[in-house]
Amino acid sequence: EKDGYPSFMEKEIHDQPSAVGDTLLGRLDENGSLTLDEIKIDESVLRSIDKIVVIACGTAAYAGQVARYAIEHWCRIPTEVELAHEFRYRDPIVNEKTLVVAVSQSGETMDTLMAVRHAQEQGAKVVAICNTNGSTIPREADAVLYTHAGPEIAVASTKAFLAQITAAYLLGLYLAQLRGNKYKDEIASLLAELEAMPGKIQRVLDEVEPQVKELASSMKDAGSVLFLGRHVGYPVAMEGALKLKEIAYIHAEGFAAGELKHGPIALIDQGQPVIVIVPSPRGRDSLHAKVVSNIQEIRARGAETIVIAEEGDEAVREFANHVFYVPESPTLLQPLLATVPLQIFAAELAGAKGYDVDQPRNLAKSVTVE
Ligand code: BG6
Repeated sequence: EKDGYPSFMEKEIHDQPSAVGDTLLGRLDENGSLTLDEIKIDESVLRSIDKIVVIACGTAAYAGQVARYAIEHWCRIPTEVELAHEFRYRDPIVNEKTLVVAVSQSGETMDTLMAVRHAQEQGAKVVAICNTNGSTIPREADAVLYTHAGPEIAVASTKAFLAQITAAYLLGLYLAQLRGNKYKDEIASLLAELEAMPGKIQRVLDEVEPQVKELASSMKDAGSVLFLGRHVGYPVAMEGALKLKEIAYIHAEGFAAGELKHGPIALIDQGQPVIVIVPSPRGRDSLHAKVVSNIQEIRARGAETIVIAEEGDEAVREFANHVFYVPESPTLLQPLLATVPLQIFAAELAGAKGYDVDQPRNLAKSVTVE
């Protein structure tokens, strides 16, 4: 069942073009709009929502963080993301005008389920983003948006993550469509960009994978790896770090690139590997220039800089020890591409260290206790 791959994780990394494609399937129509029949919450309720809270654990919570950037931008609805176990026990302010989005691959994570129940008790409506048909969280939620990643066997989540992000984009664009706002015109072009993503993910697998594997196998002895990103690159950085902790047992941390000068830069010394996710140079808000200057700063202090950037971005080369290029995409969609090299990196490093990539020590695929 591993389709010839050495591990389920590697197989699942390669399933990602179809995980994203299948999650989009049947949800876009020819007129460039979205049909989400599954969202069985009254449209008038969805129009009156004044806050969205995304709750999840682990990798799913990083998908939630990506969702926040997209939903706030497209829908102009204040959106928070919180770890389910923290949300549940801090007396959160939730009411019938709150939409809770619970993200869970398994649909059985007890921390997330308890948070869902708590939110419903306060009158909130819950939409689940879930990969497992008929599991507990979707059964208890008011609506479900299933991800169609197929069964995920490896403990470390890969294809479910990309599918969760895809579903969250669909939800964001659906709410934007429903509520009507200044981004309405962007919806059709974003949907077209989303449809192009499976092909672009495939290109990352075909073109970037061999280069990433070569680097990873030379880094078996790394004691720690830092990850930097900004905007949606920040949750991608944290997810990259989580993968490395989970399966390669290497100390890893993801930081917001803008935070570097407020602390983490003290960690940089000779030879410290730092993986940097660079936003598109075509994006707004000079984010790109800011991240490039972060790379320059850490390189000047001796870091070994490993850069994930958009094709054609020559500005990063001067300060990068290694560059991996991913296809062009709007910044908000870039996580679907930029995450892939980080997954390959962790799987290859764990394999090179002789670890069981699919069954890491101390971890369970689904944690059904609080
Ligand atoms: C865990 C798994 O503890 O639960 C992670 O080891 C996963 O990989 C997390 O991200 C959340 O799981 P789920 O099923 O709710 O997405």
